[in-house]
Amino acid sequence: MDVFEAIRSRYSVRGYKPDPVSDELLDQVLEAARQAPTAANKQPFRIVVVHTEGREQEMRRFYDRSWLAEAPLVLVVVVVPGEAWRRRDGKLYDEVDATIAFDHLVLAATAVGLGTCWVADFDTAAVRELLALPDDVTPIALTPLGYPDKDRTKTGRRPLDELVKYERW
Ligand SMILES: Cc1cc2nc3c(=O)[nH]c(=O)nc-3n(C[C@H](O)[C@H](O)[C@H](O)COP(=O)(O)O)c2cc1C
Repeated sequence: MDVFEAIRSRYSVRGYKPDPVSDELLDQVLEAARQAPTAANKQPFRIVVVHTEGREQEMRRFYDRSWLAEAPLVLVVVVVPGEAWRRRDGKLYDEVDATIAFDHLVLAATAVGLGTCWVADFDTAAVRELLALPDDVTPIALTPLGYPDKDRTKTGRRPLDELVKYERW
């Protein structure tokens, strides 16, 4: 699957089969995140891989949706802000870097037939506690990772001419 096909076929998967994800496929999608660009190549993100089996109640504390723990894996992207590049006006690029890396991972997952759903509305305190995150680490997003068990819900997009301006606003 080429990158355009992966972009076109990705959708937020909110229903998973219990089938396991092989270590080989997991490594492939993690490698896609590793290859992502980061500001000044600081690579200030980490990905925590959680096997959901037997941790269904903990996953409910992360995000109270049954489909989260249907997937055999949940991946959590976190940042170490102290490692991130800071622009001269003070803006820190930790979240931008983590987001790009996670999007690489999401598209790679699609390309190998796996489903994901970007989740930002998680309970940060529960994630901190259950993953034993140090104080200097901040969770940014999480996704289930597994085989889709639900068809795509059609979601629209604004037309290109609304999203793109040429030469000036
Ligand atoms: C930054 C971000 C945060 C999101 N947070 C959630 C979330 O907390 N829960 C959820 O079910 N979907 C979440 N989504 C998925 C969006 O609802 C979804 O991408 C959007 O509706 C478009 O649908 P599609 O992904 O199927 O194309 C999030 C997506 C993004 C990019």
